[in-house]
Amino acid sequence: MARTALYLLLLAAIAPYLYDRYVSVSNMLANRPSKFTPIYNIKSHEFKFQDRLKNCEDVLLDEGSGLAILSCDPGRDRWNTVMGVFARAKGHRSGQLYLWDYSTPNLPSTEALRPIVLENFPHGDDFHPLGIEYDASTSTLYVISHMLPHSVIEIFSLAPTTATATYLKTFQHDLIHAPNSIHTVGAGKLYVTIDHYFQARTWPLLSKIETFAGPPLAGVIFVDINEPASARYVARVPFANGIAGINETSVVVASSSKSGLYFYTRDPVTQDLRYERLVRTPAAVDNISVDRQGRVLAAGHPYALELVATAEGREGCVEGSLEEGEQRACGCAAPSWAAEWSEEAGLRVLYMGREFCTSSSVVRDVGRGVGVVGGLYGRGVMVFRE
Ligand SMILES: *[C@@H]1O[C@H](CO)[C@@H](O)[C@H](O)[C@H]1NC(C)=O
Ligand SMILES: *[C@@H]1O[C@H](CO)[C@@H](O)[C@H](O)[C@H]1NC(C)=O
Repeated sequence: MARTALYLLLLAAIAPYLYDRYVSVSNMLANRPSKFTPIYNIKSHEFKFQDRLKNCEDVLLDEGSGLAILSCDPGRDRWNTVMGVFARAKGHRSGQLYLWDYSTPNLPSTEALRPIVLENFPHGDDFHPLGIEYDASTSTLYVISHMLPHSVIEIFSLAPTTATATYLKTFQHDLIHAPNSIHTVGAGKLYVTIDHYFQARTWPLLSKIETFAGPPLAGVIFVDINEPASARYVARVPFANGIAGINETSVVVASSSKSGLYFYTRDPVTQDLRYERLVRTPAAVDNISVDRQGRVLAAGHPYALELVATAEGREGCVEGSLEEGEQRACGCAAPSWAAEWSEEAGLRVLYMGREFCTSSSVVRDVGRGVGVVGGLYGRGVMVFRE
């Protein structure tokens, strides 16, 4: 009797948790390959630079200049510290940032898309860019890089006209051991998401459990890079991924394992975040951005198991190989998902499909009526119009 009561009590304690995981898993299973139904709430879409770009996880728009900054890392095939792929021994490549003039039609590819030259950069041969953030007011470019010894934030001064970024410094902090995305509020003040408490580098098994069980261990760190001692957790979010500011006092954080958007009120003086609410999403959200009308754009993975399979198979990829297995490993079948959220209209899916693989970020230029989707393991970028 006492034992039954104990079990019931235990069950009651974990029931909300089990139900929560059930919601996440059933959302994912609804998108499994045999049930997958594409969605197109966009007028048109096309692919660009598929022959030149690979694994472009992040896209940033500077609408004022009509330029986009892309963060791409072909080296991710063999080095993905978030998903636990450590196969540098099979061959290593560094990543590359690009500047893309998306606003001038009909430019030849080489003029439209320029690799950003990183001047005086000491870590060029160990550069694995993930999230990027640009402070246009000071031309400061922040780039999260998953280097071999540890993850860092590389800081550059960007000169868009010449497509050069001059290295300023590297910021590393023990609390920021698994940085994923950055949102700056100016003057070196950053909110940085930490995707895992248990890094895959040191805790491969615990890290996987953390990914799938979704305990709120990771989260958001606030840090003023001019004052490293200021670093502290301001929010705990399971598998915190993208982060973006809606306005001065409102910040949204994506959770990949909870599958949802966490909204916070930001205190501009103390920099604290106060939790407001969670909006669940039917796909594992990767990165988010906010357009000029204040709508939150989210990209993610409708069927995370296929993403995991792609990531784990990629270490065998040899570009241009004639060997079938090596060629197949370069492929990517995991689907994409992009949606928008606004206070008035709630969540609305813009695109869900398989033509583009592993969407990880989506941005939109409202004035020009164009959106861009980047893909963690995709080729090129997808451009859409509404
Ligand atoms: C996601 O996007 C935001 C802004 O749109 C950017 O600051 C951040 O670094 C990006 N993160 C990743 C991992 O792509
Ligand atoms: C900031 O955005 C939030 C979320 O959309 C909204 O509730 C709030 O009213 C906005 N605040 C300001 C000052 O515009």
